[in-house]
Amino acid sequence: MSYLFQDTERAARRLHVVANVFAFSSRPFLHAAVGAAPEVVIDLGCGPGYTTRLLVEVTQCAQAIGLDSSERFLSQARSNAPAHLSFVRHDVTEIPFPTGQGDLIFCRLLLTHLQDPLAVLDRWGTQLRPGGFLLVEEVEWIRTEHPLLCQYLEIQAALLRQQANELYIGPLLARHQVGEGLRCSLSRVYQLPVSTAQAAAMFSMNLPSWKHHPFVQQYYGRIIDQLERDLQALANHAISEGENVWGMRQLAYART
Ligand SMILES: C[S@@+](CC[C@H](N)C(=O)[O-])C[C@H]1O[C@@H](n2cnc3c(N)ncnc32)[C@H](O)[C@@H]1O
Repeated sequence: MSYLFQDTERAARRLHVVANVFAFSSRPFLHAAVGAAPEVVIDLGCGPGYTTRLLVEVTQCAQAIGLDSSERFLSQARSNAPAHLSFVRHDVTEIPFPTGQGDLIFCRLLLTHLQDPLAVLDRWGTQLRPGGFLLVEEVEWIRTEHPLLCQYLEIQAALLRQQANELYIGPLLARHQVGEGLRCSLSRVYQLPVSTAQAAAMFSMNLPSWKHHPFVQQYYGRIIDQLERDLQALANHAISEGENVWGMRQLAYART
């Protein structure tokens, strides 16, 4: 199944906004879960490489490799990358990874898009060196009372659900008993404040990627263009801060 949020130039700009917002949850997650500097770090679904660079900065690893299915994102990620940072095209649902096994495997905001995510998670565990860690960060819940943000989230969740994906995949991951050889060493929900302007920016940049989807047109076709315009206006004019909260499920698994 193709990636719903696409890899257009606008989608890349959206991931820059995403990087700025979610660094405030991923950074403390990495500090909590990673001890000594790992040798090889693998970033699954790295997009234009923002998460990969964050991993390098926080973990001080010797080598980091970002894997993604989008050549367009990867070529952006490669620009000005230092020698110990590389990017390879790969469908991360497939193992073995072309990188060999890693000491740290990280994935943020991708399992929600994959078919059979729990089986995929178990497969990723096999790509760890002994003593290595698999870290995943996905959405558990989103708290907002803003009607436009609520409306967007309702459509987004419905669209994902009709293709057997779950926007709020965190609870499913938290309940999962991981495969043999893996032990869950951290499971928590990190509460990330997100301003209405930031949320509206991410949403308005994402909406054009899927607003022409037949499901959206069938059930929301009459309102979707207006919602896009309203979100754009909100992104430009909302002034208050931090009134929405993203609950981010953060899970660390150790390879025994
Ligand atoms: C929502 S973005 C998240 C990017 C990054 N992890 C972050 O948190 O900013 C999901 C990324 O996964 C990539 N992707 C989607 N399906 C994939 C697959 N099967 N294999 C590899 N990459 C995939 C997309 O191209 C996109 O870059």
